[in-house]
Amino acid sequence: MMSVLPISRRAFLKGMGATTAATILPRFAWAKEPTFGQDFLWGVATSAPESESRANRGRSNWDVFIDNIGGSADGTNNVRNTEFDSRYLDEFKLLQASGVKAFRFSFAWSRVQPESPGAPNMRGLDHYDRMIDAMLEHGLEPVPTLFHWDIPLWAGDFLDRDISRRMGDYAEIMARLVGDRAKTWLLFNEPGIIPIFGYGQGIFAPGYRSRRYLGAALHHVNLAHGRALTAVRANTSSGTRVSSAFNIMPFEAPSGSAEDVAAARFMDVLWNEAVPAPAYGRGYPSLVLPLVEPYIQNGDMEAIAVKPDFFGLNFYSRSFVKADPDSPVGIALVEPPAELERTDELPYDPDTYTKVLLKAHKDYDAPDIIATEFGFPVAEEAPKDGWVNDPLRIKYMQGYIRAAHDAYQQGVKLKGMFYWSSTDNWEWVLGLRKHFGLIHIDQPSLKRIPKRSLEYYAKCIRLNGPA
Ligand code: FCB
Repeated sequence: MMSVLPISRRAFLKGMGATTAATILPRFAWAKEPTFGQDFLWGVATSAPESESRANRGRSNWDVFIDNIGGSADGTNNVRNTEFDSRYLDEFKLLQASGVKAFRFSFAWSRVQPESPGAPNMRGLDHYDRMIDAMLEHGLEPVPTLFHWDIPLWAGDFLDRDISRRMGDYAEIMARLVGDRAKTWLLFNEPGIIPIFGYGQGIFAPGYRSRRYLGAALHHVNLAHGRALTAVRANTSSGTRVSSAFNIMPFEAPSGSAEDVAAARFMDVLWNEAVPAPAYGRGYPSLVLPLVEPYIQNGDMEAIAVKPDFFGLNFYSRSFVKADPDSPVGIALVEPPAELERTDELPYDPDTYTKVLLKAHKDYDAPDIIATEFGFPVAEEAPKDGWVNDPLRIKYMQGYIRAAHDAYQQGVKLKGMFYWSSTDNWEWVLGLRKHFGLIHIDQPSLKRIPKRSLEYYAKCIRLNGPA
């Protein structure tokens, strides 16, 4: 097709004064900038339990769980991890050179209060103090997650409603320590998953398999969420924005049978709505209410209804299920439809990403949204000449960044995206076998080696949109 102007757009703009360009450009359809808004937060995400070693902290629920089951799918555990706690500078340097603007990480509660409640451990506080200063020195805005599922053993678990008080105290300690430097906070990582996987299906710490426990844990997660949000807000300045990283994953029943569709619908509501809906003041969805009703006390729903300042949204893919009466949550996984392309582990599903962002926009009254995680495990070649080649990850990233941009152009107030994960790390279920990172971790030296996908991400950041 012939272009409107016989010269490149860049040359055309260069030849004009900025004002002239600004006045003329909107008249051409092709001149619509393919960018996100100014101050778009281009980030990478990680977490303490998946990257920090076990050194200098107390024992956590996940240490116990992983040791008891003999490691993740590949037999690895989190003893050493990527030793992010002592090697973070190597990572920050690579990220800074790529223009990454923000770094999402989590505090290990067991480093801050290792053995008991009360006064925090100064060594643990110094550690995070230094790490946050280092982020800022490398041009990375710190985006802490207060709680990425690891609980010090002394603090118990979510069957105990008192955990919300302990969580509130811990939130206050951290807000006082870094509230002057961290302006965007995530309280919980994927709060809805904790009761389902940890207390219902028994595949995450603490490994309970009970529908009754699922209900108790869900309500106490919500109480802790409300308390932590109140504590962070009370101990930080007014410009601070606080939310959680909600995992949104639509559930579908490919068989179409009434029984399977009902099971998928229940799971969809439990997974996607049972935490954000009460936090946004809507109460529990009716399908979930019978599970939590026995645990609700006077004043609880008010304590829970503390509206986040933005909607943190983790998205990977859709899930496909059928009814399973033997499962405490009533479902079993089935194979995704064959026509859906797959990453190494998950369906690759950019269209659903756009839909999920549009739905959150509609359901939660057009909030600011930050895509707090998106990421892809792919098989890739061994490093060569100081780089890892991972064209498949680049393809998937491009699809999701375009999908997010599509939602943005349709009115979603998307304020940032965080790629999971900064480096290859130890994953809860997959262990070290599956690689998500933009930076490769050489074993056993733990040297950081950039991947071509980091270079691609740098390009998106420079363009402030999908490259
Ligand atoms: C997300 C989790 C994160 C990591 C990625 C692969 O659901 O939040 O900790 O496990 O999946």
